[in-house]
Amino acid sequence: MISLAIPNLNGNEKKYLDNCIDTTFVSSVGEYVNEFEKMVAESTGSIGAVATSSGTTGLHSALTSVGVKHGELVIIPTFTFIASANAIRHCGADPWLMDISEEDWCLNPVLVRSEIEKHCEKRADGILYHKENGKRVAALMPVYTLGNVPDMEAFRKIADDYGIPLVVDAACAIGATYDGKKFGSLADLSVLSFNGNKTITCGGGGAVVGCDQDRLDHVRHITTTARVWPDYDFDEVGFNYRMTNVQAAIGVAQMERLDSFIDAKRRARAYYEEKLESWAQDKGITFFPTTDGSSCWFSGIVLPEGAHLEDAKRVCAKLKESEIEARSFWKPVHLQKPYADCPKSDVSIAESLWQRIITLPCSTNITEAELKKVTDSVIEILN
Ligand SMILES: Cc1ncc(COP(=O)(O)O)c(C=O)c1O
Repeated sequence: MISLAIPNLNGNEKKYLDNCIDTTFVSSVGEYVNEFEKMVAESTGSIGAVATSSGTTGLHSALTSVGVKHGELVIIPTFTFIASANAIRHCGADPWLMDISEEDWCLNPVLVRSEIEKHCEKRADGILYHKENGKRVAALMPVYTLGNVPDMEAFRKIADDYGIPLVVDAACAIGATYDGKKFGSLADLSVLSFNGNKTITCGGGGAVVGCDQDRLDHVRHITTTARVWPDYDFDEVGFNYRMTNVQAAIGVAQMERLDSFIDAKRRARAYYEEKLESWAQDKGITFFPTTDGSSCWFSGIVLPEGAHLEDAKRVCAKLKESEIEARSFWKPVHLQKPYADCPKSDVSIAESLWQRIITLPCSTNITEAELKKVTDSVIEILN
């Protein structure tokens, strides 16, 4: 079977894991945690990183740190993995779901501004509220879908104009750049995931990065139970969300090979486009969008307008018969049971798009022969 995206663990992972056992440093303190944080900060252009047990706990910590509370709203794209919305609900708040742009599959900043203009008011206290439900708009959280960084100047301006914190779900974006620069300074906080299907994995894990030391110190504080050492004093309700040295040992070995992993991801994307492009054009089939500096986390094809989830599923089933793993992609949040009643904009782009996506194999160790087998099979099946 040619897998969709499997971990590539052929570096120093085993050696560093042995070291954790030999030194007994298996918990949340250890040299690998410190080293991993340094490497993640450096690779994202941040002044620091706080390693967490997962991307979801990283998002929950970041949103808590910027002040998201019960009964408030956080703006996110409806086209995202459900963890973006879950992290908001873990704060007791609701997602305000908005549509994406076709060109990058990320939250549309023009739509966000017009929705705020239409539905919000700044009251005498200087705070932005949703007029219909009376909830405070507590944060704006774009998602770097597929490792695409959208127009962050536009989002920064919206956040500044309306006085709301800007947090980014950068779960799939390790290695991405924006305008030739690393993304760590573009938002107040950005959050990465290192789960098993990400370009860099720790088995499970996440990190909160940014360029405001006080903010990062606070995130570190609340992820480590908000303890005030040396005694058993705690100054707020904290979480036990820190990454362990065992996870970080894998992460350090992975980060040593970040550049080659990103190259492999970009090569797979380029291969699919080059080999399928002229054939696809006739059929109205398109490709995953690639912004400048995209880290190309996943790659694949998009069936023509009018195709449905069942069509995409049929193609995936056929590919499976040829021992190729292919899948559909994120079902929008507004179509998920826990979030069906959340406020939302017009979401027609996300609604049409998600059903037509077919994600193709893009492991970092995929071979050219395997890529060829995938493109040959796609052509055969779709012809
Ligand atoms: C966009 C997005 N947000 C959040 C997450 C959650 O990360 P984790 O699985 O590490 O909790 C993921 C990945 O799973 C993701 O793809």
